Amino acid sequence: MSTKILVTGGTGFIGSHTVVELYNAGYTPVIIDDLSNSSVKIIDQIEKIINYRPEFHEFDLCDQNKVNDFVAAHSDIKGIIHFAAFKAVGESVQKPLAYYKNNFFSLINLLTAYKDKPINFVFSSSCTVYGQPDVLPVTEEAPIKKAESPYGNTKQIAEEILLETANANDNYKITALRYFNPVGAHSSALIGELPIGIPQNLIPFITQTAIGKREKITVFGDDYDTADGSCVRDYIHVVDLAKAHVAAIKRMENSKSKDKYEVFNIGTGKGTTVLEVIHAFEKSTGEKLNYVIGPRRIGDVEKVFGDATKSTQELGWTAELNIEDMMKSAWEWEKYINNNPF
Ligand code: UD1
Repeated sequence: MSTKILVTGGTGFIGSHTVVELYNAGYTPVIIDDLSNSSVKIIDQIEKIINYRPEFHEFDLCDQNKVNDFVAAHSDIKGIIHFAAFKAVGESVQKPLAYYKNNFFSLINLLTAYKDKPINFVFSSSCTVYGQPDVLPVTEEAPIKKAESPYGNTKQIAEEILLETANANDNYKITALRYFNPVGAHSSALIGELPIGIPQNLIPFITQTAIGKREKITVFGDDYDTADGSCVRDYIHVVDLAKAHVAAIKRMENSKSKDKYEVFNIGTGKGTTVLEVIHAFEKSTGEKLNYVIGPRRIGDVEKVFGDATKSTQELGWTAELNIEDMMKSAWEWEKYINNNPF
């Protein structure tokens, strides 16, 4: 019997890719998702890729009774990868209570329900905890800056909750992965990012513009202190990111970690400007993109990219795919979903 890993938010963008990589690595993924920001069709798509239909439970993790019922029926879960959360920065400013409620209740319910069993727990954190770092590339030791949004605050506070939980409860080993900017799609083009409504993030906006769903893309500012004036981010292929979760589970299983709570940057270590992303898209797909330069977006960090040394040395994980791979796969997915809408 292969080890069962619970993936909350397993029909989402990063969750679905992680389900695939867990299965490929010999684990049995079990999904909980309330489908509030994803489609049940993703289960079919996952099945097409791995030829196995993962067990799926549709409910909201904020419902403690449902969580308890699930745990009672699944005492064989050995690990949890917790993706399920709200993640839109702008929306979190409009609806802070919805963000605090959803992101904390679900986390606390899960941790409480499994507190008496040995569990390896992976948490989706974000480079947003660093704000605008003073030193780049930013390392895990960099100071946590005051959060710019309720969304960012949920990540910072969740990390504290997890550290304290790991310290207080010997059953838990916990790894927080601080993602940089996850983009791209599976090489099969059967799963990818599925934004509802107008995309807020750069890559879905690019691919929707290229396919004609949007008239043009606006580059938010070209007067930053960067090589071409546009913002710098550390874009990471979602399949590489998914593999980092498998590496984190393996590390905790093998007890290689000295600490019960660990944090890793999950990025490529390389910064890329918005204009470089646009040009990489045009070069790798042969599509011409209609873009204009616009004003800065409020709250944007000028530049951030991660130092991935700790992940390479201790997690034994390194990003393998480059920006062209990210753009090509995102484009193949956009074409697929345009021809086969869910
Ligand atoms: C931010 C957070 C990240 C969070 C994510 C959730 C930081 C550093 N990162 O990502 O932790 O998980 O939001 O949404 O705080 N851009 C354009 N035109 C567009 C869209 C974006 O120029 O139409 C630019 C942005 O100004 C930015 C870059 O593209 O420089 C990436 O933007 P986006 O994809 O929204 O991600 P972040 O804001 O970096």
